[in-house]
Amino acid sequence: MNQPNKHRPIRYNDAAVILHWLIALLLIGMLMLGKYTHILEDDDPQKFVLVQWHKSFGIIALLLIIIRLLWRMSYTPPAHPADAPKWEKFAAKGTHILLYSLMLIMPLSGWLLVSASPLNIDTILFNAIKWPHAPGAQLLQEKELGHLFHNIHAYASGALILLVVMHVGAALKHHIINKDDVLRCMTPDWQSRSFKPKLVAALTAIALAAGGLALIAGSKKAPAVVVTANNSHIGFNTVVAGEATPGQFNESTINFTLDDNDLAASSLNATVKTASVFTENYQVNGSLPAADWLDDEQHPEASFTSKSISKDADGYRVDGTMTIKGISNSVEFPMTINEQDGKRVASGQFIINRFDYKLGVSEQPDEEYVDADITIDFSFEL
Ligand code: HEM
Repeated sequence: MNQPNKHRPIRYNDAAVILHWLIALLLIGMLMLGKYTHILEDDDPQKFVLVQWHKSFGIIALLLIIIRLLWRMSYTPPAHPADAPKWEKFAAKGTHILLYSLMLIMPLSGWLLVSASPLNIDTILFNAIKWPHAPGAQLLQEKELGHLFHNIHAYASGALILLVVMHVGAALKHHIINKDDVLRCMTPDWQSRSFKPKLVAALTAIALAAGGLALIAGSKKAPAVVVTANNSHIGFNTVVAGEATPGQFNESTINFTLDDNDLAASSLNATVKTASVFTENYQVNGSLPAADWLDDEQHPEASFTSKSISKDADGYRVDGTMTIKGISNSVEFPMTINEQDGKRVASGQFIINRFDYKLGVSEQPDEEYVDADITIDFSFEL
């Protein structure tokens, strides 16, 4: 039994109990969410959305943990049972100090890893409020410290899991084996008249805050992630006289806007200058801009405009209209977003039939020398 002591309370006060269980729930959820997102493939669209949730709840955890620490520094907690062995008191104190340290290291290293990442993705709390990068983020990015903070975050999460297991084990040991009041000090005091109103007040504050954030997020028209394509490549490949003949457009522009939370607001539009067509098959190269093929004089541009972007198991599905030589046809193709050398790269390919766009119909009216199928491939950095 804890001995009542005129300097030390018998149990934690209501605010401490509510904060303790709220943070416990958050941390366990965050550890599970973090481990789950970690095993997802980088190009899994679920991963991007889940990491945004992880960052939002992580910042809330950081704020609650700071409040808890400030409270802890101004408050004398109930004493450990007087009859407990010295080593146990020492272990309990050590575990608590380590727990508090890891509870701070986890969200801080998460914040630093996001701030130092070369991907430079903003943290928008619950898709509503922009949370800034850590001070000195640009320097952290230049010094390429993202990996270091990622490692700290990952190793600290392992240590935190171990400590949580020890902490829960010790509380249960006190409750079941020692049959003392250590666990009861921190359990909600349902009998007390003051506990329930405080819990209701805390839950109402959380519900109001969540409602407010949802309203802000709902009123935002701007997409969560707007990216412009850099270093775009638009190529093609077909079979000419039995030989694969790849080529590309040297002048192309791709505009891409992605909002994973509102795919209806997302779009992919691409334009190529038909005169910039190039293939290393020089027998063909000269004739490609000519009237029978791309007809660059009458049709200086060919384009693709998306109608819709949806998610599928491997990434995204893009549906839209391809216009070549003024002829428009519907096309649909898969698109994936992968990380390559620290950059996010979108890519995809699909097949069109050249006869659908009247390409080479006079010179090559059948498939004897030039296949009907042309594979179009594209990629761009985000
Ligand atoms: C209480 C706080 C937090 C806990 C318990 C937590 C836990 C975790 C865990 C367990 C992982 C997986 C680590 C691994 O095995 O590699 C992870 C990954 C990650 N966390 Fe946290 N985290 C917290 C806060 C934050 C915060 C505040 C941010 C950013 C603002 C953040 C950003 C990330 C990111 C970007 C990843 C990498 C996901 C991936 O690509 O694998 N975390 N976190």
